[in-house]
Amino acid sequence: MGIVIVMPGRDEDAARLRVALQRLDSDLEVWIQPDIPDPGRVVSAVTWKHSPGELGRFPNLRAAISYGAGVEHLLDDPSIPAGVTIARTVDEGLIRDMVEFVVGRVIEHRRGFRGVAADQRTSSWVPRRYPPHWDVLILGAGRLGGAAAEALHHLGHRVTVWSRSGRAPVHVSSIVGREALLEALPGADAVVCLLPLTGATRDLIDASFLARMKPGSLLLNVGRGAHLVESDLLPALDSGRPAVAVLDVFTTEPLPPDHPFWGHPRVVVSPHVASLTDPEGVAGAILANHRRAVAGEPLCDAVDVDRGY
Ligand code: NAP
Ligand code: GLV
Repeated sequence: MGIVIVMPGRDEDAARLRVALQRLDSDLEVWIQPDIPDPGRVVSAVTWKHSPGELGRFPNLRAAISYGAGVEHLLDDPSIPAGVTIARTVDEGLIRDMVEFVVGRVIEHRRGFRGVAADQRTSSWVPRRYPPHWDVLILGAGRLGGAAAEALHHLGHRVTVWSRSGRAPVHVSSIVGREALLEALPGADAVVCLLPLTGATRDLIDASFLARMKPGSLLLNVGRGAHLVESDLLPALDSGRPAVAVLDVFTTEPLPPDHPFWGHPRVVVSPHVASLTDPEGVAGAILANHRRAVAGEPLCDAVDVDRGY
């Protein structure tokens, strides 16, 4: 009984993951969709952005494991039977890379490094002053948001996290509820979105949210594109709230070539690379979850389907 990898468009990752899994267990059966001789032998599926319905052909499926932190591609697939456990994969590498991205972008903007680069292009010697620290509001205090909050706190910034339950790293302030969020927005130099995409978080960053942001502030969206109402962003940038938007995720990916974000002077676009799953790094956790599925044991990093993350 083995594992199927269903990751359309990610052939290299799929091949590397299969090699890494079989290096850990040479007897393990691993197939890459669509090459599956006997669908009845599939117990676990590792997926990334598979098409809904693709997992319906495995009658003995017990585990559907996201090849990453987000699980909306699995939760949005109504064909996955209720008895199949949905889990996700978040290893230390994914956390470290996200922390680097968030900290790097926050520092880049607090210190005005983009301005320094522009000054060099005009041979201008401009010693720019910068604020001693920033107030950073992080939406989401989970594996990634919590780690980013800790790192920024240790660098001396004043960090607040917004979560559902009030969870927060030690020494980091925490707020809960929409009212508290709206109250916190005008004081934040940077707002970082690291939420999962659920019914409650979709379209959270809309015109009324943006209008509450501090003039001159930074918006950093590394959660999912649909957290932001994209059509509300350009008028908000025109009003200076926020001054800059750093966007790693978009409602349509790849971002279409004619999208106005590409050429906007105050939008920084990256192609969903804030943090990438490393196949060799996650193989051990995936194998362990597969073995739990075979043994009928609870999976690690299982998703609460009702909560949506
Ligand atoms: P996680 O551990 O599940 O944490 C989610 C956090 O969001 C928790 O703190 C949770 O609150 C909070 N939350 C959920 N719904 C909320 C709501 N309605 N109101 C307030 N807070 C809410 O998730 P994670 O591993 O940190 O990952 C977060 C997301 O990052 C992923 O889902 C994915 O979309 C995104 N991501 C992006 C990239 C990239 O490259 N751009 C890479 C990896 C992941 P509680 O603590 O109270 O439960
Ligand atoms: C990437 O976006 C992930 O969810 O791991």
